[in-house]
Amino acid sequence: MPPRLLTLALLALTLSASPPAPAADVEAGRGKAEPCAVCHGPDGNATTSGTPSLAGMPAYYTHWQLIMFRDGRRRDPQMSPFAERLSDADMADLAAYYAAQRPRARSTPSEVGKFATGRPLADAHHCTSCHGPGLIGQQQVPRLAGQDLDYLLKRLRGYRAKTTSDLDGMMTMVAESLTEQEIETLAHYIAALPPAP
Ligand code: HEC
Ligand code: HEC
Repeated sequence: MPPRLLTLALLALTLSASPPAPAADVEAGRGKAEPCAVCHGPDGNATTSGTPSLAGMPAYYTHWQLIMFRDGRRRDPQMSPFAERLSDADMADLAAYYAAQRPRARSTPSEVGKFATGRPLADAHHCTSCHGPGLIGQQQVPRLAGQDLDYLLKRLRGYRAKTTSDLDGMMTMVAESLTEQEIETLAHYIAALPPAP
C-alpha cells in the first residue's frame, strides 16, 4: 500500500475517537430548528443550491460543525451568525433532531458519464472507508449520498484550497490528491446516490 493510503487507513481507524457527549432531546431540537428552516428546510432537507441538507447527518458530525462555526474555525456569511447564539445543549438537541429526519435526494441532474466513472474513483480514493458503505456517513464523518451538487463541489474545492474548515485534516489530505476534473466526477456521482439505505 502506498504511504498516503496507509495513513488514510490508519486515520480511518481513529474515527471512533471520543466525540462530544451530547445529552440530546430530539423534540427540543425540533423547536430550536425553526429559525434554521428558512435555509435548511423544515425537516433539514434544503432546496437552495449551495446550502447543505442536514437530515440524516450523523449527530456527532452536525454537533462538531456547529462548534466550529461558533468558535470561528468554519466561517460562512449566512451560517455563522446563527451558530454564534447556540449553547452546547442547543447544538446537541439540533444535531439529534436532524439525525432523526429522513434525508431526501436533492433534485440534481447527474451527468450519466460522470456517474459511471465516479464509483471506481471513489473506491480508488477510499471514500467509503470513512464515509461508510453507500457514503451515508458515520460518527464525525458526514453523509454525502444525495447531497446538493453545488455544495459538494464547494466543499471539495474548499478543502483543496484550504478555504473551508476541516476538523481533523483528513479531508484536506484527501482533496489534495484530487484534480479539479476528479472533484467534478466525484461530486456528480455522490449527488446522484440514494441518500438513505
Ligand atoms: C441564512 C441561511 C442559513 C440559516 C438560517 C442557517 N444556515 Fe446552516 N448553513 C447555511 C449555509 C449556506 C451553509 C453552508 C456553509 C458552507 O458552505 O460552508 C450552512 C451549513 C450548516 C451546517 C454544516 C453542514 C455540513 O454538511 O457541513 C450545519 C450543521 C448547519 N448549517 C446548521 C444550521 C442550524 C442548526 C441552523 C439554525 C440554528 C442553521 N444552520 C441556520 C445557511 C444557513
Ligand atoms: C480518512 C477519512 C476520510 C476519507 C478517506 C474521506 N473523507 Fe471526506 N470527510 C471526512 C471527515 C472527517 C469529514 C468532515 C471534515 C470537516 O470537519 O469538515 C469529511 C467531509 C467531507 C465532505 C464535506 C461534506 C459536508 O457535508 O460538508 C465531502 C464533500 C467529502 N468529505 C468527500 C469525500 C470524498 C469524495 C472522498 C473520497 C475521494 C472522501 N471524502 C474521503 C473523512 C474522510
